[in-house]
Amino acid sequence: MPARMQTQVSLRPYNTFGIDVPARWWVEVENERDALEFIMDNAHRSQPILVLGGGSNLLFTGPVEGIVLRAAIRGIELLESDAGTALVEAGAGEPWHGLVEWAIAQGLGGIENLSLIPGTVGAAPIQNIGAYGAELQDVFDSLDAMHLETGAVHRFDRAACRFGYRESIFKQELKGKYLILRVRLRLSRTPVLNTRYGDIAQELAAIGGEPDLRKVSEAVCRIRRSKLPDPAEIGNAGSFFKNPSIPAAQAAALQAQHPQMPAYPQADGSVKVPAGWLIEACGWKGRREGACGVHARQALVLVNYGGAAGAEILALSARIQADVQARFGIALEREVNVI
Ligand code: EPU
Repeated sequence: MPARMQTQVSLRPYNTFGIDVPARWWVEVENERDALEFIMDNAHRSQPILVLGGGSNLLFTGPVEGIVLRAAIRGIELLESDAGTALVEAGAGEPWHGLVEWAIAQGLGGIENLSLIPGTVGAAPIQNIGAYGAELQDVFDSLDAMHLETGAVHRFDRAACRFGYRESIFKQELKGKYLILRVRLRLSRTPVLNTRYGDIAQELAAIGGEPDLRKVSEAVCRIRRSKLPDPAEIGNAGSFFKNPSIPAAQAAALQAQHPQMPAYPQADGSVKVPAGWLIEACGWKGRREGACGVHARQALVLVNYGGAAGAEILALSARIQADVQARFGIALEREVNVI
């Protein structure tokens, strides 16, 4: 048994919703060698393994019967550098925002709009994190991941990850099959600032001076802090649902009835509508039910005021889905992984 294996560990500190469920087994690995040793050792027990990153995109609804494996692999390294770009490699256990700050300090652009996203570097590709007009896939180079049954390390380039909107192969066919070890990003030394989204330009104006990477990051941080609850204070996992894409005809019909409904036409002809607007229109924004509720400043975020069970939050989400379906004929899909 690897040295750091523990039994009956509360997962409460390890999920941003703050749900208190036990893991039957718990192990933390700090490097590839320990990961391999653990996986080979587990081959005899064949216990199911749940890989945990920052726990910021999942909802536990009951005890975890198998092993929870936390990848605490650290390190940020500049692998290649030329006049235009830099290839950066970061360990899966690095906190995502720390990598953003590191990049900005080096004058490397491409992830500044992804400032302050909770979670780890290793979890970022799983759901292709995105915010304020940027997505991980825009700068993604490749990652290395260890197969949880064989211990073999495979390299996945961008195409192999099959990124989509909050999607990748690691949420689909390869769900639960790999431990991501490290991620490589191609960042720019001559970044073009992306300030088109929402309130960024306004925040930049308030900050003042010539916009640069640091100021864009600061603007994003200010917007996030003003709308999104801090998981250290109120349990949450960011957006609980995805923004749905609907057929253009349905969007047109809905806009005729609700002229104030925001709608964003997509390249494929569909139209994306903000789930937050739909949920708010159904009267859910700021509503509290027992120990959980809908955040008062962002209806897409469900919150745990303290002591909520995962099942309660899941039931709340199902009632919201039913209301949005009944009122708008739109099926909201969860973004958060339910375990
Ligand atoms: N809106 C409302 N009421 C609300 C919330 C939103 O009417 O309570 C409408 C507003 O019209 C607003 C529009 O929705 O203009 C968009 O809202 P916002 O900019 O807050 O973004 P979002 O679409 O709700 C998405 C991501 C966030 C990301 C922001 C900013 C998803 C599921 N969520 O939210 O990502 O930070 O854009 O780019 O795509 C996350 O994935 O966990 C996450 C927080």
